[in-house]
Amino acid sequence: MSNNVGNGNNEKSRNSFTGSLGFVLAAAGSAVGLGNIWRFPYLAARDGGGLFLIVYLVLALTFGFALLTSEVAIGRLTKQSPLTAYSKLSTGFKSLGVMACVVPMLIMPYYCVIGGWVVKYFLAFVTGSGSGAAEDGYFTGFITGTTSPVIMTVIFLALTVIVVLGGVDKGIERFSRIVMPLLVVLIVAISIYGLTISHTDDNGTVRTGLEGLKVLIIPDMTGMTLPRFFSVLMDAMGQLFYSLSIAMGIMVAYGSYMRDEDNMSKSVANIEIFDTAIAFLAGVMIIPAVYVFMGREGMEASGPGLMFVSLPKVFTCMGPIGNFIGALFFALVLFAALTSSVSILEAIVSSFMDKFGMSRTRATLIEGAIALGLGLLVCLGYNVLYFELTLPNGATAQILDIMDYVSNNLMMPIVAILTCILIGWIIKPEKIIAEITRNGEKFHRRGLYIVMIRFVAPIMLVVLLMKAFGII
Ligand code: PHE
Repeated sequence: MSNNVGNGNNEKSRNSFTGSLGFVLAAAGSAVGLGNIWRFPYLAARDGGGLFLIVYLVLALTFGFALLTSEVAIGRLTKQSPLTAYSKLSTGFKSLGVMACVVPMLIMPYYCVIGGWVVKYFLAFVTGSGSGAAEDGYFTGFITGTTSPVIMTVIFLALTVIVVLGGVDKGIERFSRIVMPLLVVLIVAISIYGLTISHTDDNGTVRTGLEGLKVLIIPDMTGMTLPRFFSVLMDAMGQLFYSLSIAMGIMVAYGSYMRDEDNMSKSVANIEIFDTAIAFLAGVMIIPAVYVFMGREGMEASGPGLMFVSLPKVFTCMGPIGNFIGALFFALVLFAALTSSVSILEAIVSSFMDKFGMSRTRATLIEGAIALGLGLLVCLGYNVLYFELTLPNGATAQILDIMDYVSNNLMMPIVAILTCILIGWIIKPEKIIAEITRNGEKFHRRGLYIVMIRFVAPIMLVVLLMKAFGII
């Protein structure tokens, strides 16, 4: 770790990924997370199945591509962390850097709390007590406790810290190289199993996995009106944004570790494909299984309700093999969540290193302590600090939801809008394009990139932001 001393002015001392594959796996590891598993399948089932998939894919290849490319390029061009990169491009954008560093600092604590919940369920299924975890009230009982959620959060945070302490190539890249292929194997295996099952319910109705698959992939246009389509579009955009880990400084940090000789546009395309494919596979893994055992009503849950309440019930319904499938499933979720939390922590650590000249160890331990303190608050938000607050979008919130809302719905669109302005209008897209093609690579989506970053993306983001504020 001796060469990890972070001094932004000394580019030679900066760690880097060992090549394109390492970069793609680490960045895809960040992108593939809880969002792919607990939100994408639900949105797809609710928003017209195949219709949502098509809208999402088109947005990923246009809007997502433009933002992702921009962030990775900003990182590699400046060789700086999010906190310092933007102001290196234009001195007036210091506050954008601060925001891009505050977002991951806000996300980190509650992501670790949720990661802790995953650890708890993983342990429950691995030790063979999955059916207990499926009982009514188990989840609420667990998160409202005072000690268990805290212990689990600490375990998850410690695992994240250990990986980040290892550095970029020996920690993050090495971890991603092991975990990401495993994740793919697990998701494919569980999906195949889910497609083969069938179940007869109390009324004698037989439901099969393949019928459930149809809900996911066949476009359903019933009741589709223009306003309804607009809301599908907004859902897809919000999901995409979060799913690609955009606007939280992460891709800037990872871009700064990308080697100059690697092909950036190919790597970005690979991240998009990886993230979208895993989201789709998560749908194949979850929707048919939920449909078989719970019918259409079962599909109404998303987020924690889906992952920690509905799915454990589905695994129990599978009979003796359910415990095993549940253990595999929570191992998969744990991998997905860890590679994401590693990237959040790295965005912050790289910022501390560049800005304050701290060593990696010091930066990691300081942010680890901050995340632990705030994470404790989040845990206590379900018992001694319990309150209910209504957010502008109508949802009832505890501390976790408030941190989530402020970071995702408010700050992230603002970071992304300012990034579009910085690139589209201040430093100009040509500067980014020159970085992408620095080794003479072809950049096929050049025209699309310029139009997206200058006009389409900022307008769409403003609409998304207005929706978050409840204005439209
Ligand atoms: N992109 C991740 C997902 O889809 C989520 C994430 C959030 C990752 C915050 C890093 C930071 O779930």
